[in-house]
Amino acid sequence: MAYGAAFPREDMNTLKIEHTRRVAANAARILEGERFPARLRGPGMAAAWLHDLGRFKQFERYRTFSDRVSVNHALLSCAEALRLGWLDDWEPWARNAVLRAIECHNLRDLPPGLPGDELALAHLVRDADKLDILTVLDRAIETDYLPSHPEVYWGLPFRAPPSPKVVAAIERGESVDYADIAGFADFVFIQLAWCNGGLRFAESARLALARREVGVRREYLKALLPGHGETVDRCCDIAEGALRRLAHGA
Ligand SMILES: [Fe+2]
Repeated sequence: MAYGAAFPREDMNTLKIEHTRRVAANAARILEGERFPARLRGPGMAAAWLHDLGRFKQFERYRTFSDRVSVNHALLSCAEALRLGWLDDWEPWARNAVLRAIECHNLRDLPPGLPGDELALAHLVRDADKLDILTVLDRAIETDYLPSHPEVYWGLPFRAPPSPKVVAAIERGESVDYADIAGFADFVFIQLAWCNGGLRFAESARLALARREVGVRREYLKALLPGHGETVDRCCDIAEGALRRLAHGA
């Protein structure tokens, strides 16, 4: 993390360093809980530590973490890891798997046909990353950070009702198209969609359940959107049920 600390704008960089630490901690829990083979543990942790490496350069160059108006930070992470030579000592299969996991961590869906090791590490980093983003929102809710920071949700209305397309995606167990987002609540609903089909590993579901990720969102969304309690309950029930099935290996 000395690399991250070398960049200016300490507040933004600290944010990413802390995120990276927590993603690595989540990845360690998943590697352990899912009994990953020993040969994948080192590459798995490397992918978790390096997945957002490009964020520092991205912010230095563009002053934003928005890929839409700057660069794909996952590809920049790969480029930085290669430029710095940090993967030079890895065997080719491990280097490829690490790079693939970094490259795919922010895609809406994984490309089909990834080979076994690449697929396993890609899912590992995606689950570990999502689990941390869930806790980031937990903290933002707790500290009432959001009403005064519309830039976090693209300046969209704070109390807009959930978009019907987002709700339909949750009900179908599909990933949400970011183009369908119409208000802040949709970002929270997207996280419910992660719980219904967006996480891969049973250990990830167990962590999400232990952290009450759905319960926190149910209470928060009901208070935020008093006229939409039924929709909130329906989506939360789907998310909670999916997490329980995944946690129990169903
Ligand atoms: Fe990322």
